[in-house]
Amino acid sequence: MTEQPHLGEVVVAADDLERRVRELAEAVSADYEGKDLLLIGVLKGAVFFLADLMRSLRIDCEVDFMAISSYGSSTKSSGVVRILKDLDAAIEGRHVLIVEDIIDSGLTLQYLLRNLAGRGPASLEVCALLLKPSSSQAQLAPRYVGFEIPDRFVVGYGLDHAERYRALPYVAVLEA
Ligand code: IMP
Ligand code: MG
Repeated sequence: MTEQPHLGEVVVAADDLERRVRELAEAVSADYEGKDLLLIGVLKGAVFFLADLMRSLRIDCEVDFMAISSYGSSTKSSGVVRILKDLDAAIEGRHVLIVEDIIDSGLTLQYLLRNLAGRGPASLEVCALLLKPSSSQAQLAPRYVGFEIPDRFVVGYGLDHAERYRALPYVAVLEA
């Protein structure tokens, strides 16, 4: 019989998530004060983080979403990145902050940054809740990072495995 995946160690507890999201919102508010800020959420995983972050901002901003395929239902990066849903509006001349749930290999983000940079935003930065050590290979420097976590497959607070576990209020390792 094949073993079902199950939840393991909690990597980031719910109260640590709440505290850190407020800190990140404070930093973003200070940095973008008086600027036309557009948050871009990467569906679907970043939705929970983005909603909490946006509600904690002291400044006004707009939000838009993109959907990108990377993993399917597997736990390893395929390296294949495809836009499933593009932005509703143009970003030319706007201050864009990409909000991501997690950076693993960084392949998804690398593709996204190159794609969006070509549309002429006034600035383009990244706010990632979670960062895995493997991402250093992709030469990415996200401006805001919530937590650096070990190189394990995690779920919760938006992150899924085959569309499950997104609603967990904490981030935990998924044991295969
Ligand atoms: P990357 O291209 O390897 O950086 O992968 C980025 C995307 O893969 C993220 O936006 C997630 O959707 C997904 N992903 C990467 N690591 C994990 C994980 O540990 N749990 C759940 N999803 C993950
Ligand atoms: Mg994602």
